[in-house]
Amino acid sequence: MLSQNWFYQVASCTGIVQKHFSSLTKEAGMYPVDKQTGERVGMKRRLWLFLSVATTASTVFGDPFPSSLKIGAASSAYQVEGAWNDSGKGVSIWDTYVHGTPWVVDGSTGDVAADSYRLYKQDVAALKQLGVDFYRLSISWSRVLPAGTSNILNPAGIEYYNAVINELMDNDIEPVVTMYHWDLPQPLQDLGGWTNPVMADFFEDYARVLFSAFGDRVKWWITINEPYNVILGYNAARPFAPGVEAKGVGHYLAAHTLIRAHAKAYRLYEKKFKADQEGRLGLSLCSHWFEPMTNSSADVEVAEASIQLVLGLFAHPVYSSEGDYTQMLRKIVDQVSAAQGFNRSHLRHFSPEEVSTIRGTFDFFGLNYYSTRLANALLPLDEAAKSEGDYVNLTVSANWPTSVSEVVKVVPWGLRKLLAWIKDKYDNVPVFITENGFPDSGQLDDVRRSQYIVSHMSEMLKAIYQDGCNVFGYTVWSLIDNMEWSHGYTEKFGLYHVNFSDPNRQRTPKSSARVFSEIIKRRRLPESFLRVETEFSSEITMEYATNNCSSPTQHVTHASSGRNLFPCSRKFLAVWLATLTCSSYIFRL
Ligand code: BGC
Repeated sequence: MLSQNWFYQVASCTGIVQKHFSSLTKEAGMYPVDKQTGERVGMKRRLWLFLSVATTASTVFGDPFPSSLKIGAASSAYQVEGAWNDSGKGVSIWDTYVHGTPWVVDGSTGDVAADSYRLYKQDVAALKQLGVDFYRLSISWSRVLPAGTSNILNPAGIEYYNAVINELMDNDIEPVVTMYHWDLPQPLQDLGGWTNPVMADFFEDYARVLFSAFGDRVKWWITINEPYNVILGYNAARPFAPGVEAKGVGHYLAAHTLIRAHAKAYRLYEKKFKADQEGRLGLSLCSHWFEPMTNSSADVEVAEASIQLVLGLFAHPVYSSEGDYTQMLRKIVDQVSAAQGFNRSHLRHFSPEEVSTIRGTFDFFGLNYYSTRLANALLPLDEAAKSEGDYVNLTVSANWPTSVSEVVKVVPWGLRKLLAWIKDKYDNVPVFITENGFPDSGQLDDVRRSQYIVSHMSEMLKAIYQDGCNVFGYTVWSLIDNMEWSHGYTEKFGLYHVNFSDPNRQRTPKSSARVFSEIIKRRRLPESFLRVETEFSSEITMEYATNNCSSPTQHVTHASSGRNLFPCSRKFLAVWLATLTCSSYIFRL
């Protein structure tokens, strides 16, 4: 039987061979060409290439991370802080939503959550233990401005965030601060929330308060987290606050204001603060990767439409060189609006001045990636008109590993494809992966979370090294278990377990915390992880195979639990052993 040690040597070896392969390119038809000499690669080298391609799952194990890559973990105010009405904090739309509706599946609230308002030093200690470069946290607008407007400041709120930021800095952890992570002050919602264009001005005022109070220390700002999920709150009653049912209309009205709000905050910073504070600003956008169901041009077009409806809606006005909404998006929304009997499209128009003010308001592209969908066919117009804004028929492959969340099917290669899409569309903008994570029921032995993180980081490395994507940061969602919005405490994403029945909300590292800290320490996907996760290495291998299939019907089957894959891993080793022996023999010839 092969010893486990042998397995690690093979794994490092694949890395070396693969590196060798990376310096080559197939520019001359069938034969690879050496990039440096321009000559065709000889027989022996071709054989090596063949063997490495045939037997190597990826470059990733053993390849060091780029030295500039920042690694961190994230949370958001409503999900962890608790203290919902303490020390002068105002009421937010999530406070109202959880107290007034039965839509949180377990009937829970974020009133106490992980109690980070009191226990933030424990969070920082956990971050220190992980060894992260940064912590992505959000500021509760209502804690700082209880009425939402900047005429009334809550000194206790400012004091709290000063304390958190200082604690982070004292521990050499960089704060990455999200200004808005879904918790709009209720008084602003009473004015219509994000459907009211004036909200962009209130956001600018709020931004001014934050830059003035914290900008001397905070150098990374995310204006708005996932505006796409914010607008879902103006689409249907659930699952997002404020739960306003304004299908179509509210959705795009809110989107329009959010984009303007982001741009106003960016321009304010640029004019008044950047010279002194030298910080950077971006948006964090979420999207699945949308894979065409088949290679047909119709499916390819529908997959593109899907990504435009979710990511392009916000990204194109800000990150593209021409600005504004795309023609494709406008055509779809115009048609659906007309089919619904509206005289004007749900998708508003920016003035030419707005187009140019909004365009270019970024220093980086924040990306939150969790999963992938298969796209085939636009819904017929009459169905789209009745839908809640989902104009495309989306499915998942039965072969993708599942999770406790309907949303998260594990498709690591989707991240790589999404990064390549962003690179192509937005001129290789610097990308900060601001969220990526796996939900389970909260067990301490959370091997699947480690698998998820490792496999996604490995795809990120391929995007960097092989596709030339400009990724400079990776963030695990989340540092600690927390209030998962309308899923309450039924889905846990934390590297640290939080005991929610303990008044002291004790934090305990899960096995993924140990794996993640090793990744950070070694700045590579570590062999010690392979030692623990032998099963998953074969799962990753199979996922790469899946990636190469153009049609989901060709997807290889694999179980979500690695156990029954273990024999595959042995077969993989055996093939390697045979090929290595064989190749060393050829080299001696
Ligand atoms: C959000 C987080 C959320 C996570 C997991 C992201 O969309 O930004 O707040 O907890 O997904 O669902």
